[in-house]
Amino acid sequence: MAKRRSKDKVKAVDDLTENEAVAELARLAEEIAAHDQRYYQEDRPSVSDADYDALRQRNAAIEAHFPHLVRADSPSKRVGAKPSGRFKKVRHAVPMLSLGNAFNEANVSDFVARVRRFLKLPEDEGLALTAEPKIDGLSASLRYESGVLVQGATRGDGTEGEDVTANLRTIGDIPERLPKGVPDIVEVRGEVYMTHADFAALNAREAERSGRTFVNPRNTAAGALRQLDPAITAERPLHFFAYAWGEMSVMPAETQFEMVQRLGAWGFPIDPRMRRCMSVEELIAFHSETEEARASLGYDIDGVVYKVDRLDLQERLGIVSREPRWAVAHKFAAEKATTVLEAIEIQVGRTGALTPVAKLRPVTVGGVVVQNASLHNEDYIKGIGNDGEPIRDGKDVRAGDTVIVQRAGDVIPQIVDVILDKRPRGAKRYVFPQKCPECGSDAVREHNPKTGREDSVRRCTGGLICPAQAVERLRYFVGRDTFDIEGLGAKQVEAFYRDSLIKHPSDIFRLKAEMLEGREGYKETSIGNLIRAIEERRQIELNRFIHALGIRHIGEINARLLARHFGSFEALRAAATRAAAGDEDALAEIDGIDGVGPVVAEAVTQFFGEAHNQEELDRLLDEVTPTPMEAVAGDSPVAGKTVVFTGSLERMTRDEAKAMAERLGAKVSGSVSAKTDLVVAGPGAGSKLKKAGELGVEVIDEDAWFERVGG
Ligand code: IVH
Repeated sequence: MAKRRSKDKVKAVDDLTENEAVAELARLAEEIAAHDQRYYQEDRPSVSDADYDALRQRNAAIEAHFPHLVRADSPSKRVGAKPSGRFKKVRHAVPMLSLGNAFNEANVSDFVARVRRFLKLPEDEGLALTAEPKIDGLSASLRYESGVLVQGATRGDGTEGEDVTANLRTIGDIPERLPKGVPDIVEVRGEVYMTHADFAALNAREAERSGRTFVNPRNTAAGALRQLDPAITAERPLHFFAYAWGEMSVMPAETQFEMVQRLGAWGFPIDPRMRRCMSVEELIAFHSETEEARASLGYDIDGVVYKVDRLDLQERLGIVSREPRWAVAHKFAAEKATTVLEAIEIQVGRTGALTPVAKLRPVTVGGVVVQNASLHNEDYIKGIGNDGEPIRDGKDVRAGDTVIVQRAGDVIPQIVDVILDKRPRGAKRYVFPQKCPECGSDAVREHNPKTGREDSVRRCTGGLICPAQAVERLRYFVGRDTFDIEGLGAKQVEAFYRDSLIKHPSDIFRLKAEMLEGREGYKETSIGNLIRAIEERRQIELNRFIHALGIRHIGEINARLLARHFGSFEALRAAATRAAAGDEDALAEIDGIDGVGPVVAEAVTQFFGEAHNQEELDRLLDEVTPTPMEAVAGDSPVAGKTVVFTGSLERMTRDEAKAMAERLGAKVSGSVSAKTDLVVAGPGAGSKLKKAGELGVEVIDEDAWFERVGG
């Protein structure tokens, strides 16, 4: 979602008058100094790193344009004030995962049923799960080599975290050495947190010292761990609970429960409430008990976690998009709070959607300070739901209203009610803008042929001329799952766009070192690194390339499907361009791809039907070469093959077979055709087996499959 708001629309540096530049530099100097103070001295940042960097970039851009106006107290003259990248990065040997959520009993039963189905467990076979509190802190990974703590890192994005070893060493709960006999390499993972008592004492001291207080234990713990000076971390008492592990040279146990007990024996604190359960009822009982105990635990928890106990089963269940299939977080009920809605602002996203956002008087809901809540669309503000049904009893939302805000799990806070008695006299109904606040183009609600109604989303029709859409598209283009150019993140793209260095994706590949010289934060080496990182991306896997184009409905999965089907960008482009020109067969080809439907086919067709997209593709393809999609496991004997499973399988479920084949780089299809490379047939296989015989496709049984893939 766009971060830029209508009210802080920025004027291009080229368009500033000298007087405006003077005023803006003064404002920036003051604002950046205030942020620095909050960040460095008080550990209470009030803006994101991205927003902070954008301010500094803006300051630098104006200074570059008006060098005679540089202030004596300019932020560009102060050193070391860069909040991000202060710690060395650490690549986790084993990724640090997150958890899927369950919010009610039905979600929990579904989770258990899914696990059982996946594993094909007979009804009479028990399934043990561990249950433990979900600590509301931040996770850390501790690496021990030959029993000695050598590195401690934050989770980061799960793949790469920050090296905070010195700070973690200040935590009394974390042993420096492990007992004799532990495996050579041990990575212990768990949660760093602050107790209520320590938080209260720290706040009392702080109030005395500075007249200010910290917001909540979790943020305070996070801030403490990211201190550059470990002495400051040591002043903020932190604790640790171990509940997981990363790389282990030897696995000392066979179940989750025993593993955690082992971590306890090695000297790590483990949550004493953890237990083993054998049924959904027991899990739910544990949840209720823990929720009741919540207030008296002495530390914040936000739910409980269930994990399949047997580690061999965990292994079989595997991971889907960074979440283990074998674990789930059962969250506590949503927490609510009352506050005042001060204003409604409009953000413009990549696809031009105008999203209204409620700016709230800051309020703590379930331990988190909430200042924004999504209002979704204009009907939602009016009290009308997606299917035309009333929401909040049909009450509309107005600036000045006292509202009830709810936060459930990690979802965006919602406004669940309006207290009409407290509505200020004269509060006016919100009038949704009919023009895009970023570019002034008409904003319209399209007719949705599927529902026969107007779309609930109002979209800017400005397309390429809308700066908000352009920036959001560029951010998407360089995102982690798309071009992922090191050193060119969302904030840099935004700044480069503002300064007219990059307007279209292809411009990225025409950036030259000279264009970056003299920019704030860019020295010879960082310029060299960025140019090199861009060069490295001139070759990019086809699926990432397709994904990066930002075609509606084409995320990672659909991009893979298209890449796999067409094999080359030329083939996709040819088919989609023909489809856009009305060629029914071409449209049917896209529509007919396994997993792709008419909505996606339509979106692809529309994209290639736009002349300006074709022009940009020409420019982009002058710079970039899409390479064949990398199979998930390129060296597996089934990589790149199309496999069909048929008949009943005995050693694995159908889902499991599919997941396994895909992990090995194969494409799994539901039907046998001339494109099928391999059929794995179990007992009872019928027509598919016959068809394979007719087409001369290789057929093997389940045992042969395991032999072939080395399972
Ligand atoms: S297990 C696969 N267990 O919750 C293992 N996580 O929402 C993944 N957390 O990133 C984590 N208490 O920071 C696990 N008992 C617990 C936990 C726990 C807190 C945190 C952890 C994780 C997040 C996922």
